Amino acid sequence: MEQDDPAEALTELRERQLGALELLQAAAGSGLAAYTVWALLLQPGFRRVPLRLQVPYVGANAGQVEHVLSLLRGRPGKTVDLGSGDGRIVLAAHRCGLRPAVGYELNPWLVALARLHAWRAGCAGSVCYRRKDLWKVSLRDCRNVSVFLAPSVLSLLEDKLRAELPAGARVVSGRFPLPTWQPVAVLGEGLDRVWAYDVPEGGQAGEAVSSRIPIQAAPRPSSASVPEGPVSQAN
Ligand SMILES: C[S@@+](CC[C@H](N)C(=O)[O-])C[C@H]1O[C@@H](n2cnc3c(N)ncnc32)[C@H](O)[C@@H]1O
Repeated sequence: MEQDDPAEALTELRERQLGALELLQAAAGSGLAAYTVWALLLQPGFRRVPLRLQVPYVGANAGQVEHVLSLLRGRPGKTVDLGSGDGRIVLAAHRCGLRPAVGYELNPWLVALARLHAWRAGCAGSVCYRRKDLWKVSLRDCRNVSVFLAPSVLSLLEDKLRAELPAGARVVSGRFPLPTWQPVAVLGEGLDRVWAYDVPEGGQAGEAVSSRIPIQAAPRPSSASVPEGPVSQAN
């Protein structure tokens, strides 16, 4: 477009610059908003956790929760979800009779949300959510452990599970398997896949126990009895 009047041209140029400036401001504004959400809602609790061990919150979907329950249903003893997020797995575990059910979560907002969900479900006071670093939780009295964590964390977690869990305990890992342990059961496909591992009596946790005593994923009914012990491939 031709511009004969220099004053008009200058005005147009200023307007164009303003457009670019507005764009820049919008970008900076959304960046700031994203940072604020991250800093206020997702980051709390992680300040003292090394970056490589920080796992962002991604809640388990209904299928994943059901797979976890199928692999734990009917088992006695304490059930824990390490990194319990908004508490959905703990609440579902409690509802299907896995008691006590305890969630450990670093993010205070998620702990509060979990407690709110429990309260709304009429289970406040029955399920327990603790704001605690999972690396500082003793697992010596846990019989059932659920984890939905990143592969980098799982390789470290194996050592903790091996050192602390009692014989007969079961670990259920969602989305990603424990890197070196042999699963005794696998349910689901793709990211919905869930692996179960048993700590054998008198054996090293994670060794290939599936060849010794086959077990089955628990059926859905409330009376479900899951045999204690390792499982055959339940897929
Ligand atoms: C992928 S989410 C899984 C949430 C929940 N288990 C579920 O499946 O719905 C992982 C959770 O672990 C929590 N988390 C990560 N590192 C943690 C730590 N060191 N101690 C406690 N919680 C942690 C995160 O805040 C996040 O909520």
